Amino acid sequence: MRILVVDDEKLNLVIASDLIQKVFNNKEVFLCSNPQDTINMIRKHSIDILLLDIVMPVTSGIQVLKDIRQTGLFNDIQIIMLTSLEDEESFKTCFDLGADDYIKKPINLNEFSSRIKAAIKTREHTLKLKELNKKLNETQLYMIQKEKMASIGELAAGIAHEINNPIGYVNSNLETLTSYMQKIVEAIGLYKEFAEKSSQAEGKLRNVELDLNESALSTLTENVTEEYRLLKERIKKIKLDYILDDLNSLITDSREGIEKVIKIVQSLKSFARTGFEDKLVYNSLEEIINEAIIIVKNESKYFVDIERIFAKVPEIQCNKGQLGQVILNVLVNAIQAIKTEKRNDRGKIIIETGYTKKYIYCSIKDDGPGIPENIIHRVFDPFFTTKEVGEGTGLGLSISYDIIVKKHKGELLVKNNIEKGACFTIKLPI
Ligand SMILES: Nc1ncnc2c1ncn2[C@@H]1O[C@H](COP(=O)(O)OP(=O)(O)OP(=O)(O)O)[C@@H](O)[C@H]1O
Ligand SMILES: [Mg+2]
Repeated sequence: MRILVVDDEKLNLVIASDLIQKVFNNKEVFLCSNPQDTINMIRKHSIDILLLDIVMPVTSGIQVLKDIRQTGLFNDIQIIMLTSLEDEESFKTCFDLGADDYIKKPINLNEFSSRIKAAIKTREHTLKLKELNKKLNETQLYMIQKEKMASIGELAAGIAHEINNPIGYVNSNLETLTSYMQKIVEAIGLYKEFAEKSSQAEGKLRNVELDLNESALSTLTENVTEEYRLLKERIKKIKLDYILDDLNSLITDSREGIEKVIKIVQSLKSFARTGFEDKLVYNSLEEIINEAIIIVKNESKYFVDIERIFAKVPEIQCNKGQLGQVILNVLVNAIQAIKTEKRNDRGKIIIETGYTKKYIYCSIKDDGPGIPENIIHRVFDPFFTTKEVGEGTGLGLSISYDIIVKKHKGELLVKNNIEKGACFTIKLPI
C-alpha cells in the first residue's frame, strides 16, 4: 500500500508519517507540502490512499479533491480528508466531491489507525475486484472467440461440402479439357500433314505446268481433293467443332466454380478474424450479410429460401468479424427453428436492411415456430437454450447481445411476427 500525506505544515507531515510507520510498518509513505503537486505525486508513485489536509493556503484541500476527481483517472483511490474544522458544511462538500472519509486534528492515535485500516481494507478490496474484473473480461473475450469458432466448427462439414461441389466440377472439367487438348493437338497434326502434302503437290504442279502434261495435272488435282476429303472425315471423327464450342462453357464454368470457392474462403476468413481488437471501422453491411449467407448455405439450401431486401445503407462503423458473428448466430437460429417444424414446404427467411437519421437496421425474419411468449424475455440470457444437451450452448444470442449493445452501442430486439415465426432486429447508431 502506498500512502501519500499532503499538508502544508511540515510538522504535521512528520507526525502523520511517524504514526503510519509505527502502526503499519511495511507501508510506503510519501509526503507532500505543496498541494499543487498532489496529482503528479499520485501518478508518479501509484498512490493507493491519500490523506489530504483541508485548510491550506493558496490551494485548499477541497480544491485539490475536486481536481483529482475531475481527472476521472484516480476514481478508486481512497481519499481521507484531514481537518481541524468543526464545520459540518465543509465535511458535506468533501463527501459530495468524492472523499471517502475524514480524520480530525489534533490526531487521536486510535481513531487515526482505525480509519486508515478501514481505508486499506477498502483499497485492497477494490484492487482485488479490479483484478477479477480484468480476468472476467479476458474470459469473456475468450468465450466469444470460442463460441464463434465452435459455431464455425458446427458449420464446417457444410462449408466443406459447399467447397467440394465446385471443386468437383472444376476437376472434372479439367479432365475433359485434357482429353479435348489431345484431340485438338491431333487435329493440328492432321492439318499440318495436309498442308505439307498440298505444298508438295503445288511444287509438282509447277513442274507439270511447264511440261503441259494434261493427264498428270488432273491426277495431281484428284490426289489433293482426295486428301482433303480424308482430312475432313478425320476431323469430323474427332468432333472438333463440338470441342471448340464446348471449350468456352467449360472454361466459364470452371472460372465460376473457382470464384465460388474463393468467396467461401474469404467469408470464412472474415469470420475467423479474432475480433479481439475493439476498433470499429467502416464496412458494408450488405457484404457482411452476404458472407454470412454463404457460410450457412449448406445448412439452409434444402429447407429454406433466404430473401434479401437491401436498401442502399451507408457504410457502418463496426467490427466486421463480430457483426458477422451476430448475423450468423441469428440466421443459424432461424434455420434451426424452421428445421424443427419438419414441414413439407420450404421455409422463408427475409433479411431486410434500411436506415433512419439515427441508425442503420437489419431485420432477420423467419416463418418458423416463433418463440413462446413465456420465454421470449430469456433468449438473450447466457446459457438459455431450448435445444437438446450437446446441440446448443445457449450462448449465441447472449454473445450477440453483448456485441451489439455493449461493443457497438446499438440495440438487439426480438419479437414474434403477427403471422408466424420470429424476427430479430439489429440497430446500429450512425
Ligand atoms: N428464430 C428463432 N425461432 C425460435 N426460437 C428461437 C429463435 N432464435 C432463438 N430462439 C430460441 O432462443 C434460444 C437461445 O438461442 P441462442 O442462440 O442463444 O442459443 P442456442 O441456439 O440454443 O445455442 P447456441 O447458439 O449456443 O448453439 C434457442 O434455444 C431457441 O429456443
Ligand atoms: Mg443459437
